[in-house]
Amino acid sequence: MTSQDLAALIERRKRDLNAVILAHFYQPPEIQDLADFVGDSLQLAIQAANTDADVIVFCGVHFMAESAKILNPGKMVLLPYLQAGCPMADMVTAEELRKWKKEHPGYAVVTYVNSSAEVKAESDVCCTSANALNVVRSLPADQPVLFVPDRNLGAWIMNQTGREMELWPGYCPVHNQLTAGEVKEQIRRYPEAVVVVHPEVPPEVAALAEAVRSTAGILKYVQESPAREFIIGTEEGFLHTLKKHCPDKVFHLARTEFLCEDMKKINLEILAQALERQEHQIEVPEDIRQRAEQALKRMLAIAP
Ligand code: 13P
Ligand code: SF4
Repeated sequence: MTSQDLAALIERRKRDLNAVILAHFYQPPEIQDLADFVGDSLQLAIQAANTDADVIVFCGVHFMAESAKILNPGKMVLLPYLQAGCPMADMVTAEELRKWKKEHPGYAVVTYVNSSAEVKAESDVCCTSANALNVVRSLPADQPVLFVPDRNLGAWIMNQTGREMELWPGYCPVHNQLTAGEVKEQIRRYPEAVVVVHPEVPPEVAALAEAVRSTAGILKYVQESPAREFIIGTEEGFLHTLKKHCPDKVFHLARTEFLCEDMKKINLEILAQALERQEHQIEVPEDIRQRAEQALKRMLAIAP
């Protein structure tokens, strides 16, 4: 089948099922181009919470589809490629978090959405990189905080808010490999370019950037900036979005390879098959779902 045939089939099946296709900014271009909505984790969670579609097809990684199911227990949520995961989300288990909480009585647990439903269920409130500062600032000033699982996002929040937190030692293997040396080399090559990075990069890299933002935040920053040229410190799929929205601006990746393989597992064939067979359906045990939903809903109640 040609790409056009596949796209037509996807459209047909989507209409039959009253489905909506949500895609993250790191998805392959052909998936972004045919999705009903493309966004960052926060925007996608909000879309998932508000949709009136019967079926949510999530083109992203497992924790994102799981969050959509937590917020929509009555809807069918499909993740076209079941093994598309987030290695950072696997760096903390609910059992490890329970033990950490026991060692820190009285602490509030703030959990990055890049985590499992079981870990969210052990948490007081979730955050994404777009609303992390507001979520942490919403907690009473004298409230001690445990932050899981991203130590780099946690360090950036501490730096921005001046607030101490205990950080779980997780990280994104894709963003964490960006070095200050690589960014300095790009700055040397493109001295006019403005450096914008995602908060999952290491602190010494964030310190070199003009702005540190979630993916949607980077897009907004670039759109509003008078600058023409940018060095972008996040996953390479995002360049498709940036070029589409800002065709007259120039973008350089902060390192030659900036690839999240899990985000590239879905293609048109797999998406068509997922709609055809209604697979893979995401399920979350009800007791875990309810507790995870509380942490997600608390997050959604706080302005991003
Ligand atoms: P955003 O919330 O900025 O989209 O980030 C999600 C993610 O997985 C970054 O690696
Ligand atoms: Fe997870 Fe990193 Fe991939 Fe984002 S880029 S989904 S944090 S592994």
